[in-house]
Amino acid sequence: MTVASKSMSPNHPGMATQGPIYRMLSAGHAHLDELLNRAAADPAQIDLEPYSAFRRGLLKHIAMEEKILLPAAQRLNGNEPLPVASRLRLDHGAMAALLVPTPTPRVIAALKAILATHNALEEGAGGLYETCDRIAAEEAEQLVAQLRNAPEVPAAPFNDGPKVMPAARRALARAGYENLLVDSG
Ligand SMILES: [Fe+2]
Ligand SMILES: [Fe+2]
Repeated sequence: MTVASKSMSPNHPGMATQGPIYRMLSAGHAHLDELLNRAAADPAQIDLEPYSAFRRGLLKHIAMEEKILLPAAQRLNGNEPLPVASRLRLDHGAMAALLVPTPTPRVIAALKAILATHNALEEGAGGLYETCDRIAAEEAEQLVAQLRNAPEVPAAPFNDGPKVMPAARRALARAGYENLLVDSG
């Protein structure tokens, strides 16, 4: 399975206009995809070093979007949330839930599937990043500076307790991914 992260991907719903916010956050997607691909290069043996970097990086990327970008977009949009915001937040919740347990090939496959859909919504023409660059206009560079200064997000150790996978399945179902992560192992 490939992760649709490149703006040039033929699977993309069209090329977005690439402003400063677009460029910074889509580069973040590409970096995270690369870490996840490295972690899962050998499906029989997940490499926890790149996976841990992916996990910390994705948590930080999500926090940048939820705590800085989406609130700024709402403010710039006359205090109305962007129509796509609630959908993106549900995806973030599903991905964050998948980052809790020790990764398995099935968890990684679910993360890749969600990232492919999610990143296309953010990077595609008319997507989150293009919209944010457009409505931020001359404030876009300032927002990028704020995003660059975003704090690291401390990642808790993996938790493989009995409630973790059921909670992840519920988070996936809320976001419309009930077909992923089926049947526990
Ligand atoms: Fe996102
Ligand atoms: Fe993103």
